[in-house]
Amino acid sequence: MTLFLCKTADVDADEPKQVTLADGRILAVYRLDDGFYATDDVCTHGEASLAEGEIEGHEIICPFHLGAFDIRTGEPTRAPCTASLKVYPVVCENGEVMLAE
Ligand code: FES
Repeated sequence: MTLFLCKTADVDADEPKQVTLADGRILAVYRLDDGFYATDDVCTHGEASLAEGEIEGHEIICPFHLGAFDIRTGEPTRAPCTASLKVYPVVCENGEVMLAE
């Protein structure tokens, strides 16, 4: 099953896009050199929105305490983040980013 997240054109390479699903989940969608990715929007260290963070290469830097995660795997890459971020599988079809669940 796929679920529409956003248009590919709506996601900038240097800025994650926050997407709220009908079921209340809030995701951050990213455009990296090798494609689109989606993760939970909320940092695992605190209540920060990662959509407000900075993308550096394949990392998202949390705006609160500057911890970071690998956007592709959800693995924490910089302290104080220690818990993995949930990563969602996405596919792109017809200019749309879809969640593939
Ligand atoms: S809330 Fe994200 S690093 Fe602290």
